[in-house]
Amino acid sequence: MPISFQRHERMLYGDIKLYTGSSCPELAGKIANYLQVPLCEREIITFPNHNIFVKLHSSVRGQDCFVVQTATPPIHRNLMELLIMLQTLRLDSAARITAVIPYMWYARSDKKDQPRVPITARLIADMIEVAGADRYITIDLHAGQIQGFFTVPGDVLTSFHILIDYMLTIQPMMHEPVVVTADLGFAKKGRNFAQKLNTPMAFIEKRRLRNDSKAQAWTLIGDIKDHDVIIVDDEIDTGGSMVQAVNLLKSKGARDIYMSFVHPILSLNASERLAALPIKQFITTDTLPISKENRLPFGDRLKILSVSSLLGEVMLRAHEGRSVGEMFNE
Ligand code: R5P
Repeated sequence: MPISFQRHERMLYGDIKLYTGSSCPELAGKIANYLQVPLCEREIITFPNHNIFVKLHSSVRGQDCFVVQTATPPIHRNLMELLIMLQTLRLDSAARITAVIPYMWYARSDKKDQPRVPITARLIADMIEVAGADRYITIDLHAGQIQGFFTVPGDVLTSFHILIDYMLTIQPMMHEPVVVTADLGFAKKGRNFAQKLNTPMAFIEKRRLRNDSKAQAWTLIGDIKDHDVIIVDDEIDTGGSMVQAVNLLKSKGARDIYMSFVHPILSLNASERLAALPIKQFITTDTLPISKENRLPFGDRLKILSVSSLLGEVMLRAHEGRSVGEMFNE
């Protein structure tokens, strides 16, 4: 890209102003370190009636603003914080506003798959845009079609390169590993892992029986007998799917099992349930913060890989008007 264009972009959007809500201070701090900019000061107050009030401590007029906020509990409060921050930036005449959402709200409500149900991810995309976002950046959306719910441009990133680089370092310890996807929805992405690791693949066909969070593992497609297994999925919520997947794999003769998931939601007592499983290592990212209490049951079997450099680099490139695809040789 011509240098003059980069200069023009910088002038158009001003300096980077990095904001964050209350959801992921640690990740936001790491992004700030990567970008070598401070986290901008702001106040977030909750009134006795639960209304949220935001005040920025300095002007953002003409600046390139980023707000980092992720869908961790309390998810509705954190969503409102994001929306209010976006609107505050808009009203203070920011030149450009990017919502940086490591884990997207309601990403599993992405289609009408039964009568009389909402598509809540679409509603969320509308709200983010109406609140003032000109762009968004997110990681491993549960379903690719959510990109089409936004009318503003976005960078939908994947943590694949971060996870695979780590897996390659531990692969020599494994015995003829097989990559298994715990959900057919993740099969295509699972294939990428198997290709890079040069391993066979197997799939678990799973069906949800009701609209609650209980899943039932049904069938294993592929051969894992006497192999080590790497189970990959996009997220772990209650851990129900993984508990059943592991039981199924063990009953079919799997040796050591490694578990990799991008988004550590870990609701209810997921940590205890997962930690009780015969898993060699749990590999995940910091798209969502994992509380101390949730980390504890895993001990040193939990490996958390940070997405901060990925997000920081993409934010920098967006700011400078440089290609993001270039980062992945695309
Ligand atoms: C399913 O569609 C996802 O890929 C995950 O398998 C699911 O979110 C896991 O949920 P849980 O941990 O509650 O079984």
